[in-house]
Amino acid sequence: MVKTSVNDLALFGGEAALDEALHVGRPNIGDREQFLERINEMFDQRRLSNNGPFVRELEEKLAAFLGVKHCIAMCNATIALEITARALGLQGEVIVPSFTFVASAHALQWQEITPIFCDVDPVTHNIDPSRIESLLTPRTSGILGVHVWGRACDVDALGEIARKYHLKLMFDAAHAFACTYHGQMIGGFGDAEVFSFHATKFFNSFEGGAVTTNNDELARRLRGMRNFGFAGLDMVVDIGTNGKMSEVSAAMGLTSLESLDDFIKVNYENYLAYSRGLEDIPGVQLIKYTEKEENNYQYVVIEIDEGAAGLSRDMLVKILHAENILARRYFYPGCHQMEPYRSYFPNARLLLPETEKLTLKVLQLPTGTAVRGAEIDQICELIRFVFAHGSDIRASIARGTNA
Ligand SMILES: Cc1ncc(COP(=O)(O)O)c(C=O)c1O
Repeated sequence: MVKTSVNDLALFGGEAALDEALHVGRPNIGDREQFLERINEMFDQRRLSNNGPFVRELEEKLAAFLGVKHCIAMCNATIALEITARALGLQGEVIVPSFTFVASAHALQWQEITPIFCDVDPVTHNIDPSRIESLLTPRTSGILGVHVWGRACDVDALGEIARKYHLKLMFDAAHAFACTYHGQMIGGFGDAEVFSFHATKFFNSFEGGAVTTNNDELARRLRGMRNFGFAGLDMVVDIGTNGKMSEVSAAMGLTSLESLDDFIKVNYENYLAYSRGLEDIPGVQLIKYTEKEENNYQYVVIEIDEGAAGLSRDMLVKILHAENILARRYFYPGCHQMEPYRSYFPNARLLLPETEKLTLKVLQLPTGTAVRGAEIDQICELIRFVFAHGSDIRASIARGTNA
């Protein structure tokens, strides 16, 4: 239904724009027949886990695709981050952005490594290297950069700081599968990089993840730690955990890999449709991806400047949710505002002004193969309508018509 007055908004009693809820991160699903064939093969071979043939095939294909020596598949990125931090010998304090999914910080804190939150660059949304040196202490052992939205961190600047202060450098590349930095696939930078293949990621293995590295010794440790520290049938040489990827996940990963180009193409087309649909709305900016780098375009992210737009990001979220468009406020409110970090560092926000601003401005819109072009047009029209009627909406809310 076309909205002609603010009373048509579902928040004020109108009909919702979509009949069914449209989520951010609905899974992309590749060729079902291929997947089911692999599952049959898996049952025939009776190999369900423990470094089975699909896991090994996936690791080989991913390493070749990413141009990196070693790929170690894991059950998810959170465990992969934990295992990598441990295998690198991280301890004490590690510098990490707060503008990230909470798993980046939890993976450290889970091992009693203190995450020291560093502010981000307001344009790239990535950790700001110029703010790192002032956060270093004798306890600092590493830097965990996050390639937010698949746009690479300033890898060179981070590498320089890591070298200068003898710190380990690892990357949370959960967003960054099939993205490049200076034309080279993310995966081989720093000491190690960690990918997520969670169902909400454009490339998924149901649950899953991988660590990539060019360091032979680190790869050997990661493989051991992923499997309880075993180095032979009855020989445990290190502390370890269970970080193994199952065969069913690897089968899904292999199937997703075969559709990778199609997924990226759809994401790119969706991104272009959003760019056109949201053009010239005052106070609304779609984040940009440079054509100089490869990106997976899995994140359609807008920044809302309340002053220029006339309405806050949070008001837009309320309106969209009522219309069944379940946009998400990643990464609100920032790790530093979540427990246990909020209690540990009650004043952290004073050192994170850009993070604080971003967490109030940023909104993710639905994309992926489950979202149709007509729905994107509808979402854009609705956003345009909302900001064109900001003062009426504010007045309706003030009158309590949404009570
Ligand atoms: C930046 C970031 N790091 C880590 C993770 C955790 O990934 P997983 O769900 O595979 O554990 C995510 C997942 O959403 C993420 O977005």
